Amino acid sequence: MPAQSVNGDRLLRGVTELAQIGRSESGGVTRPGFSPADLDAHHYMVREAENSGLPTAVDAARNPWLGPRPHPGTTTLVLGSHLDTVVDAGTLNGTYGVVSALEAVDNLASLGFLAHPVVTVAFANEEGARHPRPFWGSLAASGQLLTPAAATTAYDGALLRGALARAGGNLDAIEQAGLDLHQLLAYLELHIEQGPVLERERMPIGIVDLIVGRVQLEVELTGAAAHAGTTPMPGRSDACAAAAAEIVLAVEDLVADWCQVATVCRIEAAPNSPNTITGLVRLTVDVRDTDEGQLHQAADEAVRRIESIAQRRTVKASCTRAASSKPALTDAALRRSIAAAAARRAVPTLPLTSGAGHDAQVMADITPAAMIFVPSIGGVSHTPHEDNSPDDVVLGAQMLQDTALALTSHPGSLA
Ligand code: GLV
Ligand code: MN
Repeated sequence: MPAQSVNGDRLLRGVTELAQIGRSESGGVTRPGFSPADLDAHHYMVREAENSGLPTAVDAARNPWLGPRPHPGTTTLVLGSHLDTVVDAGTLNGTYGVVSALEAVDNLASLGFLAHPVVTVAFANEEGARHPRPFWGSLAASGQLLTPAAATTAYDGALLRGALARAGGNLDAIEQAGLDLHQLLAYLELHIEQGPVLERERMPIGIVDLIVGRVQLEVELTGAAAHAGTTPMPGRSDACAAAAAEIVLAVEDLVADWCQVATVCRIEAAPNSPNTITGLVRLTVDVRDTDEGQLHQAADEAVRRIESIAQRRTVKASCTRAASSKPALTDAALRRSIAAAAARRAVPTLPLTSGAGHDAQVMADITPAAMIFVPSIGGVSHTPHEDNSPDDVVLGAQMLQDTALALTSHPGSLA
C-alpha cells in the first residue's frame, strides 16, 4: 500500500487546541484524571473522531476508544496514550500520542481495506495526579485492576469510585473494560522523550527498548503540633524536621546503592502555620529502576530508612505502597517494524530506555507493545516549559502512521 503523509497542520492544531483545555495561570495545563478538564479533553477527541466518521465508545474505566474497538474475528492494532496531565504540565505529554494516533487511524481508515483494524485509545488517569492510581485505564484494559482500586482516595480525600461514576465510568463493571488478548495485534505509543538523550545525540526518533518500573509510597508522619517559640527543643515531635530535613535526603541517597532514581515529590504539612511546629506531614516517594528485584529492594529500604528516622525523631510513620509498575521490555518485532518504517524515509533512529512510565509497559503484559519517542527540548517535561520542535512532532506522527500502515496492511506483519 502507498505511504501517506500525515496532515501536520491538523496535528499541530489538535495539540494547540487541547493545550487550552485546563490551561493554568502559569501557562501550563492541569487536567488530572477524571477532572472536568480531563473530560473536556476526552470530549474534544471524541468529536474529532466523529467528525471524521469514525465510531467511538467509552468503556467502564472511562477510556475513550476512537475507531473500531477490538472485536472477535480479527486482531486489532491499538494506538494510544493519555489525555490527563500532572499538575502544571506541558502541552504534549500524552496528548501528542493521542492526537497523532487519531491522525493515523483517520488516514488509514480512508485507505479502505486493512488486514487488521486500527483504533486509538486515550487511557484514563495515566498520571494519577489527583487519584493515586496511575495507569488506571491501561490496567483496566489489560485486566489488571483488582478490587483495592475501589478504596483509592484522591490526595484531597475524594473517592475514585465517585469521580469515575461522575465521569461516566463504572467501578462495579470494571472487568468489562478488559480486552481479549486474542483480539489484539499489538499496542503502539508515540510520546515525547521527556529526557535529554535524543537532543544530546541529535537523533530525531527514539525506539524504546525498556521502560522503567516504579514504586510510589505514601508516607504519613504524625508528630505533635506545638508552639514554635515556647516548646523546648529536646522532646519535640516535629514531623517537618523528620520529613523535610531527613527523609527527603535519605530517599535521595538511595541512588548511591539501591536504585536508579529516587525522589520525594509531594509534601503536605499541617497545620502549615508559620509559628507552629508541624504535627502532620504527608509525602510521596517515587522510586524507579529498570530491574524489578532491585526496584522492590529499594522501596523496602526506603521504608526502613523512613521508619528509623521517624523512631529517632519520635514521630509515628505509616508507609503504604500506593502504586507500583513493573519495568517492561518492548517487543523486538515491533521495534524492527518501527526501524524499517524509519529506514524507508531515511530517518535515523536511536534505541533508548524510558525513565518515564507509560501505558505501553502495562499493555506489554497482554500484547506486543512498543514506543516511538521524539526529542524534548532541554530534556524537560512535567513542567509548563516542556517543548518539542514542530518538525520533530510531525515526523514522529509520520513514523507512527507508517509503522501502523505496515502492520495493518497485510496479515502476519508482526514477525
Ligand atoms: C508518568 O508518566 C511518570 O513517568 O511519572
Ligand atoms: Mn505521558
